[in-house]
Parts: sequence; structure tokens; C-alpha cells
Amino acid sequence: MDNLELIRLAYEAQAKAYVPYSHFQVGAALLAKNGQVFLGCNIENAAYTPTNCAERTAFFKAVSEGVMEFDRIAIVGNMEGKKGDYCGPCGVCRQVMREFCDPKTFEVILARSAEDYMLYRLEELLPVSFGPGNLNAGQAATGSESADEKRIQ
Ligand code: THU
Repeated sequence: MDNLELIRLAYEAQAKAYVPYSHFQVGAALLAKNGQVFLGCNIENAAYTPTNCAERTAFFKAVSEGVMEFDRIAIVGNMEGKKGDYCGPCGVCRQVMREFCDPKTFEVILARSAEDYMLYRLEELLPVSFGPGNLNAGQAATGSESADEKRIQ
């Protein structure tokens, strides 16, 4: 699956966005290491705070199906009927990505059209992050080496 195909799927997911309040439609297509793709849209709520972002919808769909290893995610977002710009994931979604993905290798594709996109590694979007390794939850800390290198003496 190449990046352009993943972006196409993110637009497909975006069409399902439930956004009666913000009218800002977001779509995400999450590629798992096993080749499966999980689509997500944002789902808003009259009480506002229960709103779920597109990225988390995709992650939670995958994890709830037993899939926890991921390669890449494509994200698209724009106001209804308007042309979009690059739509970076919110801080909460970055932290959810950090729970399941290696910050050094997981890639985040931000697209503003079918072919115009920017590519980031999660580490760039969430530097000096806190993850499962910090709690010694059976996983080695990832990303901590680079944090050590950068520490100001
Ligand atoms: N939103 C996402 O779905 N993903 C993001 O990363 C940024 C924000 C949604 C939440 C809300 O439904 C709408 O965009 C406006 O904030």
C-alpha cells in the first residue's frame, strides 16, 4: 500500500465524519503492519467533550480488533465544502499513537489533496515523549536515547 492509496482511503473515511457542531471533517487511514487498514472519522457530540478525533477512532477500531502494530497513518481535514490545508493530529491523538507505535519509525502523512502531502515521523511530532517504557510496562523505552543525546549539560 503506497502513501497515495492511504490518502485516498483517508478521504473515503472523511466522508463519514459526524460534525454537526464544528463542520470540520477529518478522515484517517491507519495501516497496520499486517497490511490491514483501519479507517476513522471524527465523531462529535452535543456535549462537546465526548467528541472523538478521526485518528483515535481509527486506532481504537484497530486495537479493539486485536491489532496493535502499525506502520503509517494518513490524515486529511477541512471545513465542509472547503479546500483543506495540512491537518496535524491533536496532542491527545499524538499520545495515543505513542502508546502503540515506535516514535522513530511510525510515519504520519498529512495530506491537503490527493497528491500533496507532508510526511513526519511520530518522534518529530511528539519529542521527548512519555510512553509505556517509562512505566516499565514490559516494553523498552523508545525515543529515550535521543532525549539523552539532546540533554543540556
Ligand atoms: N479533529 C480531529 O478529528 N482530529 C484532529 O487531529 C484535530 C481535530 C476534530 C475534532 C473536532 O470534531 C473537529 O476536528 C474540530 O476540532
